[in-house]
Amino acid sequence: MAEPQTPQGPRVSAEGTQAARPGWKPGDGRADTESMLRVDQAGEYGATRIYAGQLAVLGNRHPASRTIARMAIQEQRHLNHFDQMLAERGIRPTLLQPFWNVAGHALGAVTALIGPDAAMACTAAVETEIDEHYADQLRQLAGDDPDLSATIAEFQAEELEHRDAAIAAGAENALGYPLLSAFIRAGCRAAIALSKRI
Ligand SMILES: [Fe+2]
Ligand SMILES: [Fe+2]
Repeated sequence: MAEPQTPQGPRVSAEGTQAARPGWKPGDGRADTESMLRVDQAGEYGATRIYAGQLAVLGNRHPASRTIARMAIQEQRHLNHFDQMLAERGIRPTLLQPFWNVAGHALGAVTALIGPDAAMACTAAVETEIDEHYADQLRQLAGDDPDLSATIAEFQAEELEHRDAAIAAGAENALGYPLLSAFIRAGCRAAIALSKRI
């Protein structure tokens, strides 16, 4: 499943995306930015639903709620931006949106019901996958679409902050963390694969 990595490693900085695409030959296809935007909008939508589910369970008085609410505001900004880019470019959102609405909220609510550490484990797992997903897209774009590349690079940095904040808040203390994390990461990969196509 893992994509081959560039010799430079998995990260591609905003500057790096301006470099010539390694291995590109005349006649090679350009990155499918329509599919990229569709899956990114779906992911950010899912993220807002996960945090909404967690806050619905934890309320706004729990010590973890402030961290979650701050991340939720950033996810909403990411979503608004991708919504706007889809509209500007005339790209339809994923048909799976109603499903991500329910599945995202359920994932957030269930992990928060297990406990705040599990809620943080959920964020750490999701953001680990999103980071890899955005890094993949930046490699594929290699500067093709500067507007999209800059957006992804900016949001990727914030997703990494979310992952680090979740780990700092005790994600790894969640009961059954390795299994919980592996399960959620597999779910994210499946959601990404589906939202690219449908
Ligand atoms: Fe996000
Ligand atoms: Fe995030």
